Amino acid sequence: MTARRPASPARIALRSREELAAIRAAARVVARTIAELREAVRPGIRTRDLEHLAAESFRRQGARSGTLGYFGYPGQLCISVNDEVVHGIPGERRLAEGDLVKLDVVAVKDGFYGDAAVSVPVGEVRPEVARLVRVTEEALWAGIAQARPGNHIGDIGHAIERHVAAHGLVVVRDFVGHGIGRAMHEPPQVPNFGEPGTGPLLRPGMVLAIEPQVNLGTAAVRILDDGWTAVTADGAWSAHFEHTVAITE
Ligand code: MF3
Ligand code: CO
Repeated sequence: MTARRPASPARIALRSREELAAIRAAARVVARTIAELREAVRPGIRTRDLEHLAAESFRRQGARSGTLGYFGYPGQLCISVNDEVVHGIPGERRLAEGDLVKLDVVAVKDGFYGDAAVSVPVGEVRPEVARLVRVTEEALWAGIAQARPGNHIGDIGHAIERHVAAHGLVVVRDFVGHGIGRAMHEPPQVPNFGEPGTGPLLRPGMVLAIEPQVNLGTAAVRILDDGWTAVTADGAWSAHFEHTVAITE
């Protein structure tokens, strides 16, 4: 989601067992959809074709897209290619050998939301792009490792940025992860940078979507004229991974 300052002070939901199970069910829809899309990614396929597969996958699983119609967003999912960071709109573009495609999928099932994203190389990508993908996924897991009771939101972002910086790369600061559950975006914001021990305390029952975006060049992004697609300011490529994570004992 788009970062807003100051962070929302609203309360962070603590989910019951039943609610956690429902969020997990929505997140499993997302996982299956991503698995199907990953299989379909190949040179020549249009991003619109991937969107149709996603819509079909949601339908088959008794779910719907969480992005379609969100503040007017027109896609069943977000598909962002190469220098596109997030919120790319599916369309006529055909993927090409060597591209990096980011699939960001939000599903709603029985009123609960799940949200995840992966970066998928199309065929063989340049070594620096393969490394970007690896470091970004590692950064997500470094953040997830901090998502435990007693830690703070700042611990997650700190771990993410530390890992990214250690590899000479930069995190995007204009977008943040977020709480999730009854809505796609709930408090708290989950920045991909921060100071240890700062921000809201993590407690069992909280559910967070953690989603680092990492660039090969500058951290700066701009929004295209479609009003949605965020691209890097310098045209360098970007990677994105996201998981929906419950804080448990
Ligand atoms: N994973 C994205 C996010 O959390 C999905 C939202 S895209 C939108 O921001 F276009 F629907 F906003
Ligand atoms: Co998200």
